[in-house]
Amino acid sequence: MGAGKTSAARAAAAALGARAVDSDQVLEERLGCSIEDYFVSHGERAFREAEEDGVCALLEAPPSPVLSLGGGSITSERVRGLLAGHTVVLLDVDEETAWRRAGGRRPLARDRSRFAALLAERGPLYDSLADAVLLDSARDVVRRAVPALRALGDAPPGTRMVWATAASGEYPVYVGNGLIGSGFRARGGEGHVVTDETVGALYGPAIAGASTVTIAPGETAKTLATAQTVLEALAEAGLDHDGHVIALGGGVVGDLAGFCAAVYQRGVPVVQVPTTLVAQVDSAYGGKTGVDLPQGKNYAGVYHQPSAVLADPRALATLPEAELAAGWAEVIKTALIAGGALWKRVRARTVEADRDLVLACARTKLAVVAADERDAGARQSLNLGHTVGHAIETVTGYARYRHGEAVGLGLLAALTLSAQPALREEVAELLAARGLPTRLDPAIDPAEVVAATARDKKRRGGRVGFALVEAPGDVRTGVAVAPDDLRAAVAELERP
Ligand SMILES: NC(=O)c1ccc[n+]([C@@H]2O[C@H](COP(=O)([O-])OP(=O)(O)OC[C@H]3O[C@@H](n4cnc5c(N)ncnc54)[C@H](O)[C@@H]3O)[C@@H](O)[C@H]2O)c1
Repeated sequence: MGAGKTSAARAAAAALGARAVDSDQVLEERLGCSIEDYFVSHGERAFREAEEDGVCALLEAPPSPVLSLGGGSITSERVRGLLAGHTVVLLDVDEETAWRRAGGRRPLARDRSRFAALLAERGPLYDSLADAVLLDSARDVVRRAVPALRALGDAPPGTRMVWATAASGEYPVYVGNGLIGSGFRARGGEGHVVTDETVGALYGPAIAGASTVTIAPGETAKTLATAQTVLEALAEAGLDHDGHVIALGGGVVGDLAGFCAAVYQRGVPVVQVPTTLVAQVDSAYGGKTGVDLPQGKNYAGVYHQPSAVLADPRALATLPEAELAAGWAEVIKTALIAGGALWKRVRARTVEADRDLVLACARTKLAVVAADERDAGARQSLNLGHTVGHAIETVTGYARYRHGEAVGLGLLAALTLSAQPALREEVAELLAARGLPTRLDPAIDPAEVVAATARDKKRRGGRVGFALVEAPGDVRTGVAVAPDDLRAAVAELERP
């Protein structure tokens, strides 16, 4: 209710040169009265039966390539069964917006708290059925997403798609087992692969690129010097504006290749093919690209949204355990930001690094980036744990800790600063359970970490604003922290 299905369906159908069919409208014609009147005269149960018959008939013999379905129709098992033969698109709308549009106007939208409960109850069902998710249902956005929705049919079965929107660009994010090696292409033209030695050896042959440039693995390769080598290799290979870069690898390759794509001939498209958990749940989305300088992490970089992301969770099978663990730090961070169902699953430890987890994390990040691409406000929440995490990486020359490991420690410091001892304890247990450090190497001087924090590239007016947690799902940004409190929070990391 209130997601904008009718107008989105019209826009999608128009892009296909067709007219959309709305199940509620067809139903009203069949019933000979409005749904509201039928509800009043016959009750919800009778309505649901009539709706089930009507919607099943539409799904069995669709009169149009685009159907918009009543919000409750998916509560029928028969309907859900028939949907398996169609591409199901979910318009992801928050409760506030949905209520604004539908509140008071539908039989099940009379009472705000009942409405919210209904949405929360149906949410997991919608998620489980959706082949594709649109985070914005504006007509133009829907129209532009149609080719990517159609391409979903060429991806391996079970692949899901999210249409990402940001101020500077929109792109499809495909998450599916077996995407690498399936021959699925998110865009035409020549693709030039940038990868690292490890990933190149494992997956390079499965990606047909016009050329391949291979860098050394690991954070220490994320430098301007490596970027120069890559840029020269792309030039030698003849990449031009008809082609694109394919970033095949973890966050290091993604950030570096994305940066090269952004500056090469003032910008060519990049397709991100993330192969680590860090990259699949976080770094491949949102368009932040760049390299490190000795003075600071990610000190040279630009925003450059990918033109597509292809995340294949099956690639995580070859990831060394310690790298997988590093990814869990970003998962836990994302779950703290998202709250709700994701936090519930992560804290219960019932969750595995699979398609659904990657998708849930990607959706969380993409929703934040859609609201604030350039860190003006909401996006700073994604920085949770990163201010101290980056400082730890910087003072240890990017060699002592993996990025995810440093972020895990940074999360603990952020929770100390948030005055959340119980949550800190719980997060420490979650990190430890995934094999992540919860104690800073005592050889590291906390004062140096604090000093490096002051050089964080996100400082404004000489002040570094912290992302702090009020509760899972409620992250405050730009919070000023007293130097003594910061010192104490970092020192606490060294306590056994
Ligand atoms: N741009 C962003 O928004 C953003 C967000 C988070 C992190 N990052 C960046 O990401 C980087 C960390 O990324 P990372 O943790 O993926 O590190 P990484 O790219 O260094 O990969 C970790 C290691 O795993 C290997 N590897 C990758 N995929 C593999 C696979 N499928 N099988 C076997 N080995 C594989 C790599 O060769 C490497 O040795 C940091 O530089 C961080 O700043 C960026």
